[in-house]
Amino acid sequence: MTPSLTQVRAQFPALDQECVYLENAGGSQVPEGVADAIRRYLTQTYVQLGAPYEVARRSTAVVDEAHMFANRFMNGEGHGTTILGPSTTQLVTMLAECYSRLLRPGDEVIICETAHEANAGPWAKLERFGIVVKLWRMDPVTFQCSLDDLRSLLTPRTRLVAFPHVSNLLGEVVDVAAITRVVHEAGARVVVDGVAYAPHRAIDVAGWDVDYYVYSAYKVFGPHMAALYARQDALEELEGPNHFFLPNGNAYKFELGGANHESCAGLLALGDYLSFLAGGEDGRSRTVIERAFEAVEALELPLQAQLLEALNANPRVRVIGPKTSGRERVCTISFLHEHLSPPEITARTDAAGIGIRYGHMYAYRMCVALGINTDTGVTRISMAHYNTPQEIERLLDVMAL
Ligand SMILES: Cc1ncc(COP(=O)(O)O)c(C=O)c1O
Repeated sequence: MTPSLTQVRAQFPALDQECVYLENAGGSQVPEGVADAIRRYLTQTYVQLGAPYEVARRSTAVVDEAHMFANRFMNGEGHGTTILGPSTTQLVTMLAECYSRLLRPGDEVIICETAHEANAGPWAKLERFGIVVKLWRMDPVTFQCSLDDLRSLLTPRTRLVAFPHVSNLLGEVVDVAAITRVVHEAGARVVVDGVAYAPHRAIDVAGWDVDYYVYSAYKVFGPHMAALYARQDALEELEGPNHFFLPNGNAYKFELGGANHESCAGLLALGDYLSFLAGGEDGRSRTVIERAFEAVEALELPLQAQLLEALNANPRVRVIGPKTSGRERVCTISFLHEHLSPPEITARTDAAGIGIRYGHMYAYRMCVALGINTDTGVTRISMAHYNTPQEIERLLDVMAL
């Protein structure tokens, strides 16, 4: 049986505090089991990997299993390898650095106007190596990037297309499989930023046939780290930045100094929380992960509908992103108000102990294209499955839009 919202909330010690957490796209809270696993690792297994003694074998196993878990979390088993790192920004920058050595002057990369800068800037900087960087523009009315526009940008020299699965400002879900098909037909690879998608739905890198997919574990109820899936054939084209004597084609070649060990323990413990969400099903299988995210979605959709309904009913409010609730968006919702600036709105919520955010959300290029003031940006409310309808009601009262 899927757990109730009360049972879900009981797993998260932070939710006992006064703060109402509605800035989850910035970072989510962790279940107690994740925090406990990190503590346990530090107090019982905190030795270096690979040494020939029992405790070292246990710490090595934690780090190995965390890689396998992250790979399964994205449905990459049998298709590719998952690299762990401190953040999505760091992992994409590392990947772009690898490509700076693989690409030739005149090769082309395409970045997307709706991107978080983490999956745009590192690619745009390849210009200094003579790489041609093209911008896949968004329609300023629908906020969508069309496949026709993408086709018109692709040429035989296109090597990579970098785009977000969900914009962390707009909240829309794009058709990753359709975009990937078009890019593959042109002989190029995709780098998908799944950071704003990952807390809300099950990732399926195999089903979508993507080359690279990255997400931040600290936004998915885990420790502050990130994971980059690479399809095996893509990974094997690259030379990783780690020491020369380490073999290519595996994660460690791309993890300078290795992944954070205690965070690996926390990441691995997320499997238990997903089992709980899946109704107590055993193990960390792919089915458990899919069931867990069905439960997440079922908890989130009513919250999304509640907030959007209230915002759409207010003639002074303009939602920036899809206005209708449903599977086509996630519960990250941004808006502008006719009279109140985003800092004025967040001053009200701050005074009431509610955490939300204002700003350009690092979707800087998009804000400029939409004529949004980059100092004040938008007001963003980003929910997680552990939020309650009462919290949304309270937020709406306090914002008094
Ligand atoms: C959509 C998206 N991509 C990338 C990032 C960057 O992630 P990280 O903080 O792990 O570098 C964020 C962070 O907010 C994000 O929302």
